[in-house]
Amino acid sequence: TGGITTVSSGNLTVCTHLTYKPFEFNQDGQTVGFDIDIVNLAAKEMGLTVQVVDIDFEQITTGAVFTANRCDIAAAGMTITEPRKQAILFSDPYFDATQALLTKTGSGITGLDSLRGKRLGVQTGTTGQEYATKNAEANGYEMVVFDDLPLGVNAVKAGRVDAAINDNGVLYDFAKDNPDTEVVAEFDTGEQYGIGAKKDDANATAIIGKLNEALATARQDGTYDEIYKKWFGT
Ligand code: ARG
Repeated sequence: TGGITTVSSGNLTVCTHLTYKPFEFNQDGQTVGFDIDIVNLAAKEMGLTVQVVDIDFEQITTGAVFTANRCDIAAAGMTITEPRKQAILFSDPYFDATQALLTKTGSGITGLDSLRGKRLGVQTGTTGQEYATKNAEANGYEMVVFDDLPLGVNAVKAGRVDAAINDNGVLYDFAKDNPDTEVVAEFDTGEQYGIGAKKDDANATAIIGKLNEALATARQDGTYDEIYKKWFGT
């Protein structure tokens, strides 16, 4: 493996926060998804087997998982942001995203400005929560914080909140499987996902180097497009 060591020998241990379909979710007792396929490209290159660790999202964005040596890298549909860059090392961007709004189908809600006096679900520690917080005063909604994506989107389905904000990819995926819900707005937050690792660490930097190489190759040889099609269907 070219001098690279990992927290569990022979493995590439990957922290994530389940469930964030189609990026990471469990199917037939296995964690699968777009992110898993991306990290697998690098693992294969290094002769390692991917092992997934499910952990609170904030343990990842603060870098706590790396200082505690819980995993070698983190793949969690995680947006590259300035504050997070202070705490962790990011790979090259591998996916573009923007915030979006999910409601019950036919709700009449068209954006944050339709939510005055209503309840908006947000996912804890995410860029969606940050965006909703920034716009709360101007739009007069009440924020309800959920620990993961399924709790938020199912609260929309059940009518416990009027809308939920989250990344466009996961909300379109949910709406496709749940036609009683729909995505009614996208906000141009211009986000990019990166794979995270320990900052200022030669070994972690080498792993991210391999990941960046594998990603560049996959973009060139069509593998990236195949993975994209597999999880997004277009
Ligand atoms: N992209 C958003 C962020 O970085 C949400 C990511 C949530 N990921 C997850 N696996 N739960 O804040």
